[in-house]
Amino acid sequence: MRIVITGGAGFIASHIVDQYVQLGHQVAIIDDLSTGQQENLNPEATFYEVDITDARAVAEVMQTERPELINHHAAQMNVRRSVQEPVFDATTNILGSINVIEAALAVGTRKIVYASSGGAVYGELQYMPADESHPINPASHYGVSKYTVEQYLSLYNQLAGLSYTALRYANVYGPRQNPYGEAGVVAIFGEQMLAGKQPTIFGDGSDTRDYVFVDDIVAANVRVLDTGDNEVFNLGTSQPTSVQEVFAAVAEATGFTGHSIYAQPRAGDIAYNALDSSKAQQLLGWQPRSSFTEGIQRTMQFLRGAGS
Ligand SMILES: NC(=O)c1ccc[n+]([C@@H]2O[C@H](COP(=O)([O-])OP(=O)(O)OC[C@H]3O[C@@H](n4cnc5c(N)ncnc54)[C@H](O)[C@@H]3O)[C@@H](O)[C@H]2O)c1
Repeated sequence: MRIVITGGAGFIASHIVDQYVQLGHQVAIIDDLSTGQQENLNPEATFYEVDITDARAVAEVMQTERPELINHHAAQMNVRRSVQEPVFDATTNILGSINVIEAALAVGTRKIVYASSGGAVYGELQYMPADESHPINPASHYGVSKYTVEQYLSLYNQLAGLSYTALRYANVYGPRQNPYGEAGVVAIFGEQMLAGKQPTIFGDGSDTRDYVFVDDIVAANVRVLDTGDNEVFNLGTSQPTSVQEVFAAVAEATGFTGHSIYAQPRAGDIAYNALDSSKAQQLLGWQPRSSFTEGIQRTMQFLRGAGS
């Protein structure tokens, strides 16, 4: 299949590119390298250094590649930045996505797979684990922008017949996650502990997230190439894990024996999250396979400089 994948130099989508290439698909990447890394680029994929907010450049890539499917992962994905710079967040995540969708329509692309966020669109949970019918009530601009694009995709499906699948990820972790940014507590703790630095916990460490290993997310992105059309799926483990538990697991895997520093909780952060992925299990035959312990070990191997 001819596939264009946006954000393919980034953490999650670079793993998806590797798997799509491995499966024999013809892959092209759009990425502006704002948070993505050159070294994540698969040499078998064609690379376009393009900003998705540049409608003309996005359209040109689509005209050249004429993809049957677009996998859309490019986004500004920093919750804190979205709160501080809502226009930047909306420009990248909403307007950039409309550029991608319009360019898809112009070349007759069949389907868009979209990376949404089950950690951000529901806001503070009314029940846990949250299924797809949990009320939508984002606690950050990022949550609003990610959800808005799901709505656009549904609209374009109704108006123009463009198919889509929206995947609402829990907290994804694994090799290549950027430890220098603000997202990705596993990578941040790992990097700091391996360097013998004291990690900071924002709040009292009782906040929970649902940590899903990147390989499991890749598997879902393979499944939806030919199934799950016009559906929204949560992808998580349904297990809430507290920041304290992440701290302990990463300390164990790295041999860190120090303590953490505690700081004030941050704007846009929610207290609890865990996702019910029964729908993905029923309709896609998807379920997470990697245990947290195994995933942490694989991530630490990567941070130590071994494994990808
Ligand atoms: N990491 C998570 O836990 C998580 C959870 C839910 C959803 N998501 C979504 O998954 C996607 C990928 O996230 P990630 O964790 O791999 O982050 P990432 O920052 O590693 O990847 C994002 C990629 O998009 C690129 N990009 C950003 N702005 C761009 C622009 N204007 N034009 C072109 N490329 C641009 C970046 O350079 C980067 O390569 C995002 O859409 C994010 O919202 C991630």
